[in-house]
Amino acid sequence: MSLFGKIFRKKEIELEPCDLSILGTDVHSHLIPGIDDGAKNMDDSLILIRALVELGYKKIITTPHVMCDYYRNTPEIILGGLSELQKKIKEENIEVEISAAAEYNLDADFEPKISNNELLTFGEKYVLFELPFMQEPPNLGSAIFEMQTNGYIPVLAHAERYPFWFHDFQKIMDLRERGVKIQLNINSLTGYYGPEVRAVGERLIDESCLDLLGSDCHHYGHIELLNQARKKPYLHRAIEIPGLINKEL
Ligand SMILES: [Fe+2]
Repeated sequence: MSLFGKIFRKKEIELEPCDLSILGTDVHSHLIPGIDDGAKNMDDSLILIRALVELGYKKIITTPHVMCDYYRNTPEIILGGLSELQKKIKEENIEVEISAAAEYNLDADFEPKISNNELLTFGEKYVLFELPFMQEPPNLGSAIFEMQTNGYIPVLAHAERYPFWFHDFQKIMDLRERGVKIQLNINSLTGYYGPEVRAVGERLIDESCLDLLGSDCHHYGHIELLNQARKKPYLHRAIEIPGLINKEL
C-alpha cells in the first residue's frame, strides 16, 4: 500500500490478539518510579509491570530517559531505582525478571559518555539511543562510529517516529546496513503516534528492516494500546520475523 493509501486507510482487518510471550523480553519502557516521564511512583510501576506480565512478557529491560535538558539520570540513579523496584517485585511475588539500561538522547552529553565507558547496556552491549524529533542531528554518524569502535552495538529507538525520515526510508535501511539495530514501538502500529509513523512502522515490517520490538510503556494508556496492537495483522507478522533479538535476551 502506498503511503497515501496507508494514511487514508478504510476498513481494517483485526485478528485474534497475538501472544506476546513469543517475544519473551520487552526492551524499551519507563518503569522506574519518579525518574523520568514514565511511572510516577512505585504503585504505578507495579501496575504497569503486572500488566506487562499478563501480556506474556517474562523479562523486562527498562530504559529510563537520559537527556541533558530534562532527565539527567546517571547509572547510579537508574540502578538505585532498579534495586528498589526489584525488592518490591520480590515482595509482591510478581514473576518477572527486571533489569535496566537507558534510552540515551543523542545530545551534547551523549558522546563523552561513550568514550568514558559509562553507558548502561543490555544483552551483547546493546545501547538504546533516540534522536531529537526536530531534525537529524549532525553528529549522528560520528556517535554511531564512536559507539561501534568502543565495542557497543547501537540500537535506534522507535526508528519509525522521526518526521525527518518519513519520506526517506532509505536512511533507516542505510543505518541498519551500517550495523545499527532497529527498534520499532509496537504501539506505532495502532496509529497512536500518527498515520505517517504507522506507515513507516509497517514498512519496517514489510522490508524485514527490524531487529527489536518495544512497548515504550510510560503509563497505563500504553498498555491499553498494546492490547489494540495485538489484533493488528502487522504485529502478527512482526513477531514472526526471523532473528528478532527480543527472543535471545
Ligand atoms: Fe522511550
